[in-house]
Amino acid sequence: MIQYNRLEKTFTLTTEKTMYQMQIGPAGHLLHLYYGPVTDGCFDYLQLPRDCGFSPNPYELQEGRGWSLDTQAQEYSTAGTGDFRLASLETESAQGIPGADLRYVSHEIRPGKYQLEGMPSAFAGEETVQTLSVVLADAATGIQAELLYGVFPHRNVITRAVRIHNRGTASVRLNRAASACLDLPFGDWQLVHFHGRHTMERQPERISLMNGVQTVSSSRGASSHQHNPFVILCQPDAADRFGTCYGMMLVYSGNHRTDVEVDQAGATRAVMGISDSNFSWTLEPGEAFETPEVLLTFTQEGLDDLSHLYHRFIQHNVCRSRYALERRPVLLNSWEAAYMDFDAEKLLRIARDAKSLGVELFVIDDGWFGNRDDDFRGLGDWFVNEKKFPKGLKSLLDSIHGLGMKTGLWLEPEMISEDSELYRRHPDWALTVPGRKPTIGRSQLVLDLTREDVLEWLYETFAGLIRENPIDYIKWDMNRHLTDLYSHSLPAGRQGEVTHRYVLGLYALLERLTQEFPDVLFEGCSGGGGRFDAGMLAYHPQIWCSDNTDPIARLSIQEGTSYGYPIPAVGSHVSASPNHQTGRRTPLGTRGVAAMAGTFGYELDPAQLTEEEREEVRQQIRQYHTWQDLIREGDYYRIQSANAVRPYTAWQFVSQDKEEVLLSVVLAGVTSNPRPLHLQLKGLDPKARYQIASADFYGCKAELPHAPDRVFTGGELMHGGYTLPILLGDYPSAQIYWKKVTG
Ligand code: DGJ
Repeated sequence: MIQYNRLEKTFTLTTEKTMYQMQIGPAGHLLHLYYGPVTDGCFDYLQLPRDCGFSPNPYELQEGRGWSLDTQAQEYSTAGTGDFRLASLETESAQGIPGADLRYVSHEIRPGKYQLEGMPSAFAGEETVQTLSVVLADAATGIQAELLYGVFPHRNVITRAVRIHNRGTASVRLNRAASACLDLPFGDWQLVHFHGRHTMERQPERISLMNGVQTVSSSRGASSHQHNPFVILCQPDAADRFGTCYGMMLVYSGNHRTDVEVDQAGATRAVMGISDSNFSWTLEPGEAFETPEVLLTFTQEGLDDLSHLYHRFIQHNVCRSRYALERRPVLLNSWEAAYMDFDAEKLLRIARDAKSLGVELFVIDDGWFGNRDDDFRGLGDWFVNEKKFPKGLKSLLDSIHGLGMKTGLWLEPEMISEDSELYRRHPDWALTVPGRKPTIGRSQLVLDLTREDVLEWLYETFAGLIRENPIDYIKWDMNRHLTDLYSHSLPAGRQGEVTHRYVLGLYALLERLTQEFPDVLFEGCSGGGGRFDAGMLAYHPQIWCSDNTDPIARLSIQEGTSYGYPIPAVGSHVSASPNHQTGRRTPLGTRGVAAMAGTFGYELDPAQLTEEEREEVRQQIRQYHTWQDLIREGDYYRIQSANAVRPYTAWQFVSQDKEEVLLSVVLAGVTSNPRPLHLQLKGLDPKARYQIASADFYGCKAELPHAPDRVFTGGELMHGGYTLPILLGDYPSAQIYWKKVTG
């Protein structure tokens, strides 16, 4: 799996399908040779020395002027030592020495997976995993960069992180400390990234790279709705079904940055890590800094395969919750049912109603605590509002349990309202700049999670709440981004550390609470999917995907999310019609179809449903139960993109044993005399025979265009494809479920 060849000075990291190779160069730099399919070979011939003008040479290699860091593919580039392209590390020592000239010192190959301190990172689980640590050092400052590689052979994933030690005698400031640099010396690449905004997260965009630098980043203190810390570099002809692609995903929930540069020679470099905006970190002699981890993948089998690699890896090797691989209860969340306009009686009525429909978990969303009657106040006062709950919170939760349901509670631990007892007691617990009025977001301020006393208080408050109340589920929300990056407890020279320390504080809190309460199901949220990243997924097996519950708008949000994140991680609910965010009216069935591309639930008041709709909801829940293992454990395929010119979106699940297939189709627009709706299925057993076990059409009248007992081979459905009946109406949809025929 990890081999060091003494003669060639090469490290070769091999997974079942991929190979990654590097070499200690003639002057001790760690050069990148290859990342691609497994094959024999030493790829050092690809490092072509040539004098390309204005590319300086290391002192030892000046003869011939052919060898420059500016043209060599590297593992961890630095600034100021002859490489003018993207730097992974930018440092300055207290003596004023800029940059670090990193040369090989030693390496170690260890069994097991390295772990990072204070940050989530992938774990080996059942797998046999190895770690490679390569230490590089700068003689002038004593800076050491320990490059860490985790090799997961069976998952075809290689993880990377860097530990930077100050082994010198003076302090060193890190101005940039990226997690990974991936050099692709040849080829034309396209960048797929996921941008968006609140209620419109993770819209995929695919661009051809320009010469120069393109950046995907967040400086909002959270991974953000705007730019996700996950990118794909693929060949121009790559598609879902085939083609060469590289994935880079950061296991981190704060400010991030990925730069992709096409240099003067046409080589591509991608550098991913913590954003350097508002970032600096001082390392005293003897101290170390760890970067977050990057999950690297490579495949020649297209974007679907790349997605599957990430889906499995996050479920099996990143998410530590016991629920990662378990069934999740169908929930009903009170937010769109009642907003903050409720009391215990009303909530119990909704819960009872939900129970009669088959809902298993009732979640009390925002509005149950302090003086929280609207979103101008109350955050930080995590004691029950006695006007709304005269008998206390526990009494209501007990009554919900009495109905035979699980209980859930909304929290927004990281925030504080100016109008709260907590703020009146501890104004210095908020991030605010002395002498300046703070910026307000949703009328709230952000708690200073860099402070030990704040973290301790948060832990005691929420651990106490969970101990004293029968709580099965927690929705952990975060509804504004970070500004006023000043901690009242840090010295002046350390304020550049606030955003990263904030994330470390958040992880420390989550770590303690999730460890102490392993049976509580945690769902992440940040105004919907504003912090949908692998860092949060380490603690939360599911994340509320978007505040946009419109099933048609959700199609592209969920599709974008599916490129990197597993389907059961996607919290997805059926809400009322007309939709509260878009005003659009859609059939209840279509809302169900869209919500079944995730962990299923409801976001409405059942009292507003007609008797017929209530029966439909019961049927939806029964249906979801039949398919939930297939949806959770099966392979997910994008069949027809929501962003394509065709007015329909389709996706499909196939069980691991290829026994079951579920095809879902939603029409965002219908035309008269439409063209046939024809789709090619994926991932089936070509020789197996499949028969339709159920076909449901919503928002339209339709019948199968063939005898219902017609048997199809997997080959027919994949290569010939399948034609649906004509679907007319407002946002019609279909779910076709095949089972393998035995005998
Ligand atoms: C934002 C969340 O995304 C919503 O679902 C809801 O919990 C509100 N916050 C409550 O304030």
